[in-house]
Amino acid sequence: MIDRMRDRRCSGFVTVGAGAVLGLAAVSGLQAQDGTPTYAKDIAPIMQEVCMRCHVEGGLGPMAFSSYEEVRPWAPMIKQEVAIRHMPPWGVDPTVGIQSYKNDISLSEEEIDTIVRWVDAGAPEGDPADLPPASSDRWDRTQGWELEQVLGPPDMVISTGPIALPASGQDRWPNVRVEWPTLDEPRYLRAAELRNTPLGRRALHHNNVSLRLEDGPSGRIVGAGAGKSWDLFPENTGILLGTGPGELSWGLHYALIGQEFVDEAEIALWYHPKDRPPPFESTSEYHQLIDQFTEGEPRARDILIPPHGTQTLLRVVVLDQPIMINSVRPHMHLQGVGQSIEVIWPERVDDFTGHPSSPGEVLTSVNTYDHNWQISYSYEDHARPLLPKGAALLLRTQLDNTVNNPLSVDPDQWVAFGGRSVDAMSHMHMAVSYLSEEQYQEILSERIRLAEEQIAKPAETRVDIWLPEGAREGLDEYVRR
Ligand code: HEC
Repeated sequence: MIDRMRDRRCSGFVTVGAGAVLGLAAVSGLQAQDGTPTYAKDIAPIMQEVCMRCHVEGGLGPMAFSSYEEVRPWAPMIKQEVAIRHMPPWGVDPTVGIQSYKNDISLSEEEIDTIVRWVDAGAPEGDPADLPPASSDRWDRTQGWELEQVLGPPDMVISTGPIALPASGQDRWPNVRVEWPTLDEPRYLRAAELRNTPLGRRALHHNNVSLRLEDGPSGRIVGAGAGKSWDLFPENTGILLGTGPGELSWGLHYALIGQEFVDEAEIALWYHPKDRPPPFESTSEYHQLIDQFTEGEPRARDILIPPHGTQTLLRVVVLDQPIMINSVRPHMHLQGVGQSIEVIWPERVDDFTGHPSSPGEVLTSVNTYDHNWQISYSYEDHARPLLPKGAALLLRTQLDNTVNNPLSVDPDQWVAFGGRSVDAMSHMHMAVSYLSEEQYQEILSERIRLAEEQIAKPAETRVDIWLPEGAREGLDEYVRR
């Protein structure tokens, strides 16, 4: 995640290398000298870096991968799960679009290949002397906040109070509301992180926290699920919170774990310093509906998937002012298999037909969407899509009601729009900064300057920079799209 990232991407795009945000070591030295990977040398580092954020005693994953003894029996299934990119949970298509996200926990092709070859070679243990230092408690966040390592102690912590959960029965969706402690003056939110008890983490599917303030804004400020527990804005961006009054609303979804227990969730908030307000404001996360009627927009509520059929939905939004996108979170139900966000550059908007011969340029394509994981993809600071006025956003949804979709409940049925998981839905949640022309130009010039600087830098120290079309000339090698 956050820091194990870029080194693995091979194409011309480059990297936040050294000591990235949380200062966690990147995985390296994947292969043993003779070419056969071993657990001690090659697999344990991947387990520690990626899998053990969930696969530890008391973690979200159903089994622990803390030692060779624990990992070995699962080797064939591990091979299968990583080869199809089902584990670790991460839906972004690695072959197209922006690949630079703060919360990326996906494996590189090289790492997948290492795991596959290790399993094919009989999953050898290797020399225990090669093992990295044990790290079972590294992902235990009952002790502290992950973001504390970069931001120091939080400015504010708010709790849900006790949430009692039964041992068995249907999933539970407690909707807890807590009064917002009014602020002395408006503040810019820099980051927010969520945590709950160790047992609660096993049961918690997701936790989305929204803030409703009388003097704005209203919307989701952080969501947790799928090994993601925080949102962190760069130094130049934040959500402007009014003083209140208001309330925090916690959307919690639990799958019960066969044991009665009492959970408690907490949110930690960090603000930008009062004397240094960030120049760019972000919205809280808001919904783009790809399946419903919004005033002034053409699409109505018309999801209807025939038995053994598929459906593609498109929604186009033409921008009447420049924007920068901070994060995107696809949301569909069981039929959802893919969702992408594309840009159509201003000069092509009028000719755009939606036909494959006039495609948009993909920003993010989530092509292994899984309803069980609600992941928000948080762009790296300089990789946030920066789009001019007049460009159009194209949101594309792929729904699949055939046997090819392992989550299809009953492909013999028609499926229509609805709120239950078995009904279909198609939303894209986005946190956006609306920019003035001057702000757009300012960010653009800064990015071009940074991209030019990269040329002289060694590959490991480069940062990922995304530039809009038209600003890429001569910098292609340093820009991924
Ligand atoms: C964000 C949390 C998370 C991370 C990170 C994660 N897993 Fe999992 N894993 C789960 C959960 C939850 C399940 C059970 C539900 C499921 O299969 O989706 C699971 C299931 C599995 C299974 C069993 C699948 C089955 O069908 O029974 C394997 C094997 C597995 N994970 C391997 C891995 C490996 C290898 C990694 C690291 C490369 C990894 N996981 C990273 C949460 C995680």
